[in-house]
Amino acid sequence: MTQSNISPPQTDRRSFLKVGATFSAALLGASTLANAFGEKSRMNNSIKGNITKMRTLGSGKHSLEVTALGLGCMGMSYHRGLIPNKEASIALMRKAVDMGVTLFDTAEVYGAYTNEILVGEAISQFKNDISITTKFGFNIEKGNMAGLNSRPEQIRKVAEESLKRLKIDVIDLFYQHRQDPKVPVEDVAGTVKDLIQEGKVKNFGLSEVSVETIRKAHAIQPLTAIQSEYHLMWKKPEEGVLAVCEELGIGFVPYSPMNRGYLTGMLNGQTNFYAANDNRAGLPRFQREAMIANWPIVEFISNFGHQRGLTPTQVALAWLMHQKPWIVPIPGTTKISHLQENMAVADIQFSSEEIREIDDAVSKITIYGDRYTPVEQERVAN
Ligand SMILES: NC(=O)c1ccc[n+]([C@@H]2O[C@H](COP(=O)([O-])OP(=O)(O)OC[C@H]3O[C@@H](n4cnc5c(N)ncnc54)[C@H](OP(=O)(O)O)[C@@H]3O)[C@@H](O)[C@H]2O)c1
Repeated sequence: MTQSNISPPQTDRRSFLKVGATFSAALLGASTLANAFGEKSRMNNSIKGNITKMRTLGSGKHSLEVTALGLGCMGMSYHRGLIPNKEASIALMRKAVDMGVTLFDTAEVYGAYTNEILVGEAISQFKNDISITTKFGFNIEKGNMAGLNSRPEQIRKVAEESLKRLKIDVIDLFYQHRQDPKVPVEDVAGTVKDLIQEGKVKNFGLSEVSVETIRKAHAIQPLTAIQSEYHLMWKKPEEGVLAVCEELGIGFVPYSPMNRGYLTGMLNGQTNFYAANDNRAGLPRFQREAMIANWPIVEFISNFGHQRGLTPTQVALAWLMHQKPWIVPIPGTTKISHLQENMAVADIQFSSEEIREIDDAVSKITIYGDRYTPVEQERVAN
C-alpha cells in the first residue's frame, strides 16, 4: 500500500460505474458463487452468531480478558450520521451482550456526554460481566469539544462524571483520548495510577501516541491497551507502535477498523454524508474523488471475500485480527445484522498464504487522501 497525500486522479463517473459493473458481474459469476457456498466457506461455525473467542489486552496485574472483538458505541450518538432512536440502540447493545460481547467502547466527548449516558442506560446492569471503556482529554463547552485538557484535576473530574453517566462503580479501562502537549504524560499516568489505587479505575490506556510516549507512561503506570487507528488503509502502527506493545505486553485496540465504514463497500462516490453529525463529511479521504480513487482496495477485498463466502467487512477485520493475538478491534455499528456479521469474524482464520495474498495486493494499491484534517492531524503522533 502506498500512502498518497496528493489529490486523487480525476475519475469520471462513467469509468467509476464501469468498475462497479465489472465487480457486480464478478459477484454473480457461477464459479465464484460455487466457491462462496462450497468447501471454502468460513461462515459455518459462526452462523449461530455468538462470540466465544477471547483475547487478552495487557499483561500481569493490568491484563483485561475480553471477547476477540468489541463494540464501538460512538456511532449510536456521534459522528456517524443520523442518530437511531434510543430504543434501537439500547436493543443493539443488549443484543451484543446476549451474543457474548464483553468489550464496549465510548468516550466523554461522544455526544458530548450523550453516548456515555446511552451506554449506561443500555448495559450498566451487566457491569459485572462486561468491560466498559471510556476516555478523557478534552474540555467540553456547551456540549462541544473545546480543546485539549489532560490536567490532573480534569482527569479526576471526568472520571467522577463518567462513572455517574455510565452508572458503574469502576471504569474498566480509562484512555487518554489525545495527548495534551501542556501536560507531561508522566503526570497523566500518575493521575490514573491514583484513580486505580482509589478503586475508581481498573486499567489505563492511551490513544494515538508515539512509541516514546508509550514508554514514558508505561514506566509510571502499566498500560493495558493502546487504542489507535489501524486497518488495511492505515498501517502506521506497524512502524513501531505494535513492536513496543509486543515488547511491553500492552494490548492494541484498532479503532475505525473498517476505515469508518469505507472498507465495508457500502460507501462510494455517490455517498452524501449528513454533515451535521458525520465527521466523514470533512475528512479528506471521504471526499468524492478520494472515495472513487480508493475503490480498488474495496474491489480487491470484495472479490477475495466472495471466493470464500465472506463480506469485505469480514476480510478487513479478519486481516486485522491475524496481525497479533492481542489485537481487539472495536467495529462500530447501529444495526444488529452488521453486529452479527462483524462478530462472526472471531471464527474466521486466514492461512499465511491468504494473508500474503492480501498484503501483496494491498501493497500495490495507492491510497488517496489524508485520514485527518490539519487540525486533527496535529493531535496525533503519526
Ligand atoms: N480513539 C479514538 O480516537 C477513536 C476515533 C474514532 C472511533 N473510535 C472508536 O472506534 C469505534 C469504531 O469506529 P468508527 O465508527 O469510526 O469506524 P468503523 O467501525 O470502521 O466503521 C463504522 C461504520 O461502518 C458501518 N458498518 C459497520 N459494520 C458494517 C457492516 N458489517 N456492513 C456495512 N457497514 C458496516 C457502520 O454503519 P452501520 O451503523 O450502518 O452499521 C458505520 O458507519 C467507535 O465506535 C469508537 O468507539 C475511537
